[in-house]
Amino acid sequence: MYNTSIGKDIEKAKALLEAGELVAIPTETVYGLAGNGLSETAIEKIYAAKNRPQFNPLILHVASIEQAERWVAEMPLSCKLLMNSFSPGPITYLLPKSSLVPDLVTAGSSRVAIRIPNHPMTLDLLHRLDFPLAAPSANPSGYVSPVSAAHVLQGLTGKIPYILDGGNCSVGLESTIVGFENNIVVIHRLGGITAEQIFQVSGAEVKTVLSHASPTAPGQLKSHYATSKPFYLGDIPALCQAFHDKKIGVLSFDKRSGQAVAEEILLSTAGSMEEAAEGLYAAMRALDCSDIDVIVAGRLPDAGIGRAINDRLERAAYKNN
Ligand code: TXA
Ligand code: MG
Repeated sequence: MYNTSIGKDIEKAKALLEAGELVAIPTETVYGLAGNGLSETAIEKIYAAKNRPQFNPLILHVASIEQAERWVAEMPLSCKLLMNSFSPGPITYLLPKSSLVPDLVTAGSSRVAIRIPNHPMTLDLLHRLDFPLAAPSANPSGYVSPVSAAHVLQGLTGKIPYILDGGNCSVGLESTIVGFENNIVVIHRLGGITAEQIFQVSGAEVKTVLSHASPTAPGQLKSHYATSKPFYLGDIPALCQAFHDKKIGVLSFDKRSGQAVAEEILLSTAGSMEEAAEGLYAAMRALDCSDIDVIVAGRLPDAGIGRAINDRLERAAYKNN
């Protein structure tokens, strides 16, 4: 057990990481639970602290494209184009791994996931380290990702020594994950960079293959980003009618539902999908902690970052759909 503390001391974070300890780090997407990505003992601590199955691989975080090149065997042209435009930023690249990357990071896969996060404190930290940081989202496996230091503390108190506090995450959704197959860019997870943006910059064919769409990928099928309270996605008035005998918390996009419910959170009165993404996880956590029985949400328009938001809502509702 640790006495988990929160602070802004980058040197302290560096010293802990160099000693093989874990530190939660801020990024523009969500907070990460970081450890030395070249140390098997540090990586084992990450899986243990999150209670994460070891078959689910971790993203390696680096400070620059030059650092990224050290951990991959090759980089296709379309990847370089995307990196030049979007990194540092909310996108992760699946690339053939260098033999220097421990198999525990990639869960035995020949591809490693690499990301350059766009947060000044974490970029500063990464520049000071001579190893990459393996970092999944800093939440207990399966729960909603943390977008503030307080969220990290809620889930990981006592399990890690330090949380580097970089304020609230500005994007609010995990990075987009892309792989490269022949001349096709394959999106494996929707996130902060949209398919439209990827198509524009790469000029390549873009295909979206989400893991949870495939029944042949066990483990990925389980619900994810899920609240503890039952979460339902669909037509809000119809769901409120179905649960009229329960205390309902509603998560709506830009307009009040008009339903008489115990709680309601609007993601963006201005109808901005970026603002909705930024506030989504804090809203899901707030509803989960409030005095209600069920959470009811509606889909956003299925375009741009709205598709990534809908993906997270669907995964949160997976058990109940
Ligand atoms: O925005 C983000 O990506 C955040 C911040 C902290 O960087 N990280 C994050 O990590 O969301 P995590 O572990 O919660 O999600 C990473 C996803 C997992 O679904 C994992 O299966 C996939 O990336 N992944 C990682 N390495 C992979 C690999 N070598 N091959 C296939 N999938 C991989
Ligand atoms: Mg995660």
